[in-house]
Amino acid sequence: MKNIVLLGFMGTGKSIIGRRLAVELGSRFVDTDHHIEKMAKKRIPQIFADEGESHFRKLEEQAVAEVAAWEGYVISTGGGVVLNPKNMEALGRNGIFVALTARPEVILKRVQRRAGERPLLQGPDPLGNITRLLTEREKFYADSKVKVDTSDIHIEESVRCIVERISQLTGATT
Ligand code: S3P
Repeated sequence: MKNIVLLGFMGTGKSIIGRRLAVELGSRFVDTDHHIEKMAKKRIPQIFADEGESHFRKLEEQAVAEVAAWEGYVISTGGGVVLNPKNMEALGRNGIFVALTARPEVILKRVQRRAGERPLLQGPDPLGNITRLLTEREKFYADSKVKVDTSDIHIEESVRCIVERISQLTGATT
């Protein structure tokens, strides 16, 4: 059974929607960021602080290679997973990509609720960082067959939308 792979920028709802989606589909759930933290035995901000982004990206590649080989999972990914073609190749081998999007102002509000957890958005101008990174990455997120803008809809509505779009894609009747 194929995995459902949630892609998208920080704060688009991948983890929370992914968990609910897994319940809805009766699938198992994994979050690549949590997998990295388990491997490194450290929280992500600590990995960035101690070893820097490039080390984090290596751990991310390892974590992705591992979970991409599993079957029947809903996989929630970190927002930067799309930057490494090896990640996309591994996840795409047995996965259906679903991209979640949200407007920059909505992303800012959501990530501010847990300030400190996103090392890439630290600094005096988080909205500027969000806009810049979104511009660099939107081409990667745009490639997914299923896209859902979560800016103005509740979690349950996003889940319903994803289930419907996947059913249409795969011809399943869930
Ligand atoms: C990152 C997103 C984060 C986490 C790390 C880097 C990114 O995950 O992987 O801080 O490059 O966009 P979330 O998208 O789950 O916040």
